Amino acid sequence: MAQINRILSIETSCDDTSVAVVSSPGFVEICCSANQDLAHLPFGGVVPEIASRQHSEVILPLIDTALDRAQITWDMIDGIAVTNRPGLHGSLLVGLVTAKGLSLAKKIPFLGVNHIEGHILAPLLADEKITPHAEFGFPYLALVVSGGHTHLFVVRGIGDYQLIGQTIDDAAGEAFDKFAKTLGLGYPGGVQIDQWAQRGGNPKAFSFPRSMIREDGYQMSFSGLKSSGQRTVEALGEEKVQQELPHLAASFQEAIVDVLLSKIERAMVEFRLRNLTITGGVSANSRLRFGAEKLASLNHWILQLPAMRYCTDNAAMVGYAGLKRMQRGEESKAELAPSPQSLPGDFK
Ligand code: KG4
Ligand code: ZN
Repeated sequence: MAQINRILSIETSCDDTSVAVVSSPGFVEICCSANQDLAHLPFGGVVPEIASRQHSEVILPLIDTALDRAQITWDMIDGIAVTNRPGLHGSLLVGLVTAKGLSLAKKIPFLGVNHIEGHILAPLLADEKITPHAEFGFPYLALVVSGGHTHLFVVRGIGDYQLIGQTIDDAAGEAFDKFAKTLGLGYPGGVQIDQWAQRGGNPKAFSFPRSMIREDGYQMSFSGLKSSGQRTVEALGEEKVQQELPHLAASFQEAIVDVLLSKIERAMVEFRLRNLTITGGVSANSRLRFGAEKLASLNHWILQLPAMRYCTDNAAMVGYAGLKRMQRGEESKAELAPSPQSLPGDFK
């Protein structure tokens, strides 16, 4: 078996096209991403057809750019990792056929990787500017929170991910995005809500539900919050909503952050963990970061938040998962298909 020291990775599961080169033991040599926010902006959410078309337009130039910038040639690459699940079928397909084609042409193996596994492992990535905390490592609690996922895992090693809870309906990021749309703010909405809340917003001004916060277990729900947000906005009327924007944003944000932090706190105690990470786009939220940092310092936990560029969707995290698995001898067959869902066996 050929040694795997450096791989090229491709991520196209949703609306970010991203390419990275990751080398052993987990160093990002380059990560280039093309964001599609402008293309989806008029629709207030991701339009699958537009997403896949954009991926197919930029993927090959993006790979050339990444290799050029890092001054890496194909003979220096030992394998290709590509997200093949979960995600939008058409989007995943673009990355996957690209990976298969390159694998054939360059005569190197490829491996399909679970996107969520990438998020889970993102805190372990290093690059020129960042080195993870020396004491941070397995086992750790990972909250993966984005527009598509709100999953809580106990992570014991590569491939050993116990899914202890997840949202039973909307993802936290989806709730942020939908409420922002209701308020007439732009897409993606999470950032807008975060920014409006910081304009003197009072998190106690409106009382929004915190569904399932006190329930045993780690399941979460954000659809009740979404409806409550809609009803509040309708009842206030347009003019009042404009005046109350900071307070609406701060109160809505607080409801989501309260639920996430309360589940984290309970899981850290129950599973006797010291290490914590929060990844995915919503981990950019300033209130969530602040709350997690406060909890960590109070409880003497080691909190490793990945750099923002590795929190949002990116190929470096996919490269990390692919590198570790290919080093164990895993590779995919040419028949590999994209899957909108995770596969049985991905998580415990
Ligand atoms: O991980 P990501 O880039 O893509 C996936 O959904 O997989 O996450 C995007 C999500 C969007 O829902 C966006 O509104 C949310 O992350 N987001 C935020 C913030 N920045 C991005 N949510 C709350 N506060 C933020 N500062
Ligand atoms: Zn993601």
